[in-house]
Amino acid sequence: MSADVGDVIAGIPTDLYIDGAWVEAEGGRRFGVTDPATGAVIASVADGSAADGLRALDAAARVQESWGRTPARMRAEILRRGFELVTARAEEFARLITLEMGKPLTESLAEVAYGAEFLRWFSEEAPRVSGSYATAPDGANRLLVRKRPVGPCLLITPWNFPIAMATRKVAPAIAAGCTMVLKPADLTPLTSLLFTSVMAEAGLPAGVLNVVTTTDPGAVSGPLLDDHRLRKLSFTGSTPVGRRLMAAASERVLKVSMELGGNAPLIVCADADVDEAVEGALVAKMRNGGEACVAANRILVHSSVAEEFTEKLTARMQAFVVGPGSEASTTLGPLIDERFRAKVAALVDGAVAAGARVLTGGAPAEGPGYFYPPTVLAGVRADMAIVREEIFGPVAPVIVFDDDAEAVSSANSTEYGLVAFVFTRDLDRALRLSEQLESGMVGINTGVVSNPAAPFGGVKASGLGREGGAEGIEEYLETVYVGIRDPFATAERSA
Ligand code: SIN
Repeated sequence: MSADVGDVIAGIPTDLYIDGAWVEAEGGRRFGVTDPATGAVIASVADGSAADGLRALDAAARVQESWGRTPARMRAEILRRGFELVTARAEEFARLITLEMGKPLTESLAEVAYGAEFLRWFSEEAPRVSGSYATAPDGANRLLVRKRPVGPCLLITPWNFPIAMATRKVAPAIAAGCTMVLKPADLTPLTSLLFTSVMAEAGLPAGVLNVVTTTDPGAVSGPLLDDHRLRKLSFTGSTPVGRRLMAAASERVLKVSMELGGNAPLIVCADADVDEAVEGALVAKMRNGGEACVAANRILVHSSVAEEFTEKLTARMQAFVVGPGSEASTTLGPLIDERFRAKVAALVDGAVAAGARVLTGGAPAEGPGYFYPPTVLAGVRADMAIVREEIFGPVAPVIVFDDDAEAVSSANSTEYGLVAFVFTRDLDRALRLSEQLESGMVGINTGVVSNPAAPFGGVKASGLGREGGAEGIEEYLETVYVGIRDPFATAERSA
């Protein structure tokens, strides 16, 4: 291990965190974490079992009642301290994210700011949970409606945004008064472990946040989903895995939030500012190296601007500097692992075999690490696998269209519905398209919609529920209605 890597991981916890203590996995089992820029193992982390998951749930269930009764203001202040501590240690978090996930340091820093913001946002939402007191329409009973924490949660997070996807679930759960078992992705567990230690330092009581790292997610989640004490499942990941988890969660009718796959269309209209559209497409495609469920998966360009747009996009894609994320000059890091790189390569090869033209990139890089170059494909048709499947890599397939109706129908011809992007100078057209597009989020003249203050989530097979915004905390609350006899009834009877 190089001295640099040693510096980044020095002091990062690598055990499970259960009931306020760092503990070994059952049988002392561990697994290796790999640097995707080199393929080298950089750390060994506890490999939790079903029994470890249940120990974590024991702790979460034991403190649920006291945590749920903890004043919202106190929960808010812990979150606020968490925000301040993560922000103060942004550089340390960023270097760790780059090491285990691969993205360039500047992007890791941006992710830390984004992730920390969920802590701040939900610290502000915690004290605003409210209810209502009303008179029934017939003037008789009173209707008291209050919110309470749903109960212990299982939070399953992906590898692509190691801190932001954790804070996006953990922060609203804390704000609502829920306890939890967090299961981070085995490809990037270290960031969640560091984040957990920071939340303990921020004053989070033992048992509220428990973390189980594992290479066998099914073995850990299965018994938890079967356990009556668990009340909520929140998952971010692929649609096939989401479907399986939802099926398992349906047995005990758990409250579920699912942030699943995407197949985002990015529509460049005839009247778009082409330079602005190129910059927007670049961000929508290349943020996180294309490894985001909100990444533009299909770039639909009006025929009148297709040539200019494609030339300019290709030039901007060629300007990326590919290399290890830890190097200051790097603007595109490696993909997460060989499996994901092979999938990207197969989709590109398939498109080319079916008639697409490579304008830049198009083949995996040689040497160590899982690098794949920025790639632009022209001549892409809607029937190609590359526009039906989530690419999760730095590949921009360009499809040409002739009118808005064709663009909308092509954009909607997918089972997914997470986000769509539209570039146009015409406000009516922008609003029209945003109403016609079947997606949970729409970006108008911007390539980024993600914002902790906004409700992130999809429709169709892209998921259920919302994270962030005013909606985010609702996912961790349930509504209780108390019907009360008319308080004047007794007075009137005895009068
Ligand atoms: C994701 O890819 O799952 C999330 C992306 C984001 O929050 O912007």
